[in-house]
Amino acid sequence: MIIVTGASGQIGRALVDRLDRQGVTRRAVVRQVRHLADLGGDVALADFADHRSIRAALVPGARLLLNGVPGPDFVHQQLSIIDLAAEAGVAQVVKISVRGAAPGAPLAQGQHSEIDDHLRDSGLPHTILQPVGFMQNLLTEVSFADGEGRFYGSYGPGRVGYLDARDIADVAAALLTRPVEADATLILTGPEAPTHDEVAETMTAVLGRPVRYLDLPVAAMAQRLRAAGLPPAFADDLATLMRDVGDGRWADTTDTVQTITGRPPRTLATFVTDHATSWP
Ligand SMILES: NC(=O)c1ccc[n+]([C@@H]2O[C@H](COP(=O)([O-])OP(=O)(O)OC[C@H]3O[C@@H](n4cnc5c(N)ncnc54)[C@H](OP(=O)(O)O)[C@@H]3O)[C@@H](O)[C@H]2O)c1
Repeated sequence: MIIVTGASGQIGRALVDRLDRQGVTRRAVVRQVRHLADLGGDVALADFADHRSIRAALVPGARLLLNGVPGPDFVHQQLSIIDLAAEAGVAQVVKISVRGAAPGAPLAQGQHSEIDDHLRDSGLPHTILQPVGFMQNLLTEVSFADGEGRFYGSYGPGRVGYLDARDIADVAAALLTRPVEADATLILTGPEAPTHDEVAETMTAVLGRPVRYLDLPVAAMAQRLRAAGLPPAFADDLATLMRDVGDGRWADTTDTVQTITGRPPRTLATFVTDHATSWP
């Protein structure tokens, strides 16, 4: 039995779809009743904040995909799930983290670092997946509201090895369905690391509609994110992270997706082609 937390999310849903196509026994864990029907099959209703519901969703010997959304209660909740998984006799945990997870790092990186360390200390067999930014972010970042497509950032000319979240699900599916391997922390990237101008060029070519990347100073980007409704501290940290990433720290690519799935990661052009109707 493979238990998928965050089953209504991007990675979780892609993983459930893949396991269903492969005929693998799985349990999808969701917190909203409306997902019981659209995921179908074995679906457990559980909230990370409610230990009883999580305990009831776990099964001795099961293999677990641990995912969720960083936020105020995220660390506390994920540490509890790891403890409950150990108590329940879960056989393996594959956890979604982030590249650059480190103690005290801003945004999700600091939070994931605490959870990753707890998992390493738990005694549970595990693989920690540390992806760079998802191509799926472009679905919300690129807006055609002003006629042409535009997206903003503070990356400068920095390259980022953007990854399709579906490849994370495919890596997780492989790890959760073959014999459990030695504990590992794996960095996941896409096949290439474009600049943001090159991202815009690829989108323009594939969609046949102009898309432009606009680079802003950190303060202006933070202001833009605040105006979009992000909490001020979060907006400031996010704009700063964009500038930091622009120094090239996420510019290299890894062969993790190829090694684990046996095929190369999806290209940006493939991602845009597959989602061509997603931008209004
Ligand atoms: N986006 C990026 O560029 C990027 C890059 C690197 C790493 N990451 C990491 O990737 C992860 C996000 O993956 P994703 O895109 O698949 O996330 P997602 O689409 O936002 O899905 C998150 C899932 O977690 C569920 N969830 C959240 N809080 C819950 C709770 N209290 N109880 C039960 N379920 C709960 C959500 O349920 P609902 O549907 O009910 O909300 C949803 O199914 C994060 O850990 C993030 O740090 C993201």
